[in-house]
Amino acid sequence: MAPQKNVKRVTTHVLQEMKQRGVRISMLTAYDYSMARLVDGAGTDVILVGDSASNVMAGHETTLPITLDQMIYHAGSVVRGVERALVVVDLPFGTYQGNSKGALNSAIRIMKESGAHAVKLEGGREVIGSVERILTAGIPVMGHLGLTPQSIYKFGTYVVRAQEEAEARRLREDAKLLEEAGCFALVLEKIPAVLAGEVARSVQIPVIGIGAGSEVDGQVLVLHDMLGINTEFNPRFLRRYADLHEVITSAVTRYIADVRARSFPNEQEQY
Ligand code: KIV
Repeated sequence: MAPQKNVKRVTTHVLQEMKQRGVRISMLTAYDYSMARLVDGAGTDVILVGDSASNVMAGHETTLPITLDQMIYHAGSVVRGVERALVVVDLPFGTYQGNSKGALNSAIRIMKESGAHAVKLEGGREVIGSVERILTAGIPVMGHLGLTPQSIYKFGTYVVRAQEEAEARRLREDAKLLEEAGCFALVLEKIPAVLAGEVARSVQIPVIGIGAGSEVDGQVLVLHDMLGINTEFNPRFLRRYADLHEVITSAVTRYIADVRARSFPNEQEQY
């Protein structure tokens, strides 16, 4: 058995208690060991190995191309850097839709090969069979409704979802269905704040928002966006907590200048 570190881990049960006590849950993405250590060390409650790795790590335009093997690689790297946070891993596009047995196999591979603590998948009623099947193996499942990026070609645009009553009603129903199926938490992405607050109050499980206002139980952002590494992505909901684009560009520029000027390495920096 691995040695126990002296840290109280965040579990799905802890998140449930946080909702009950009205303590907001912080969630951020991470895709590698070094960033995961920083994000976990700072005290983030949940680390999401998001399929946004497809965008920010691999440079794809959408989340669709990332594979299960690639997600497992990212997830394993993150898990090795985390002592406290709950690590949730996205099931990538094509590994769970329309085939609950396939979904279970994908989730089992993630848990077994990466050591993560839970999986997340996108969709409502159409993926309930997959949610239920994954839960039979004792794997915690987080749902994701609203703007679900794996369906971008169906939506055709990244605009706010569920602004019309029909879509809002469907989302409310899907949230209930996911809760009844046994999801331990839900992500709501880019929907009106009033609707998100209503959903958060209507379910017992924690609801984590991104572009879903402040009346939910927690917030999630993509790490590279909130650190200002990506400067091209500027949605209204994004608050930038750093300008790492500037910090990194300046450091690299000074390094190049020092190399050209032969001032690096100096006497003390060599053997
Ligand atoms: O992949 C991801 O980063 C996500 C978050 C935006 C919630 O699903």
